Amino acid sequence: MSMLKWPSRDVLVAPSILSADFARLGEDASRSLEAGGDILHVDVMDGHFVPNLTFGPALVRSLRRALPGAFLDVHLMVEDPGMFVGPFVDAGADHVSFHVEPIGLDACVALAGRVRSLGATAGVTINPPTPASAVLPAVDAFDLVLVMSVNPGFGGQAFIPEVLDKVRAIRAVMSPGQRLEMDGGIGPETAGAARAAGCDVLVAGSAIFGLAQPDRPGAIRAIRGA
Ligand code: DX5
Ligand code: ZN
Repeated sequence: MSMLKWPSRDVLVAPSILSADFARLGEDASRSLEAGGDILHVDVMDGHFVPNLTFGPALVRSLRRALPGAFLDVHLMVEDPGMFVGPFVDAGADHVSFHVEPIGLDACVALAGRVRSLGATAGVTINPPTPASAVLPAVDAFDLVLVMSVNPGFGGQAFIPEVLDKVRAIRAVMSPGQRLEMDGGIGPETAGAARAAGCDVLVAGSAIFGLAQPDRPGAIRAIRGA
C-alpha cells in the first residue's frame, strides 16, 4: 500500500466542501486549507443511495485545476461506485471511498484493487447501522476505513456516539499505516472522542465552513487536538 500522497501528520482534518459556499467554491475551499485543513473531503451523492444530490467528476476536475497541490478525498455515496471510480480518479481524486452497503465486501475489495491500479488510494465506508463485521474480514485490503457518524445525505446533523465502539473494533485489526476516518457531526466538542477511539482523519463540514474565516484556524486546531 502506498500512502505517499497523503499528508504525513498524525491527525488530519478534512474540511467537507458540502458545507462550502458553492457560488465561490474554489475560494472557500482554498481558505479552508489556509486555515489549517489538511485535505479536502468531497461528498458525492446520487439521489439513490442517499436522498440528496451533489457533485460529479467535472467538479473534481475544476477543483484539481484551481488547487493543484490539494489532496482530494472523494467519498462516493452512490449505489454503483464501480461506475464512477475511474472518472473521479481521472478528474484528479487522490483517494476514493465507497460504501459496503450497496455492493458487499467482496466487490469493495475488487474495487479497491481497481482504484489502486489507477493510482489513487481506496477506502471502504460503513453507515451507522452497519456492524463492524461487514468490513472486519477484509480491512487489510483497504488504505482507509471510513466510519460514518451520521446517516449520510446532509451536513449539519448530530454526531451518533454509538459508532465509537465500531471504531475501536476496526482500529484493533488495522496496521499502523492505515487510516481510520470519521465523517458526520464532528466539531471541537465531538472530535476528542473520535480521536480517543482511534480515528486519525476527521471530516468536518458545518463546524468549519459555518464559521467566518478568522474563526476557522482555532476550530481546526481544536478538532485536530494539537
Ligand atoms: C454526510 C457527509 C459529510 C458531511 C459532514 O452525508 O458525508 O461529509 O459533509 O458534515 P457535518 O460536518 O456538517 O456533519
Ligand atoms: Zn463524507
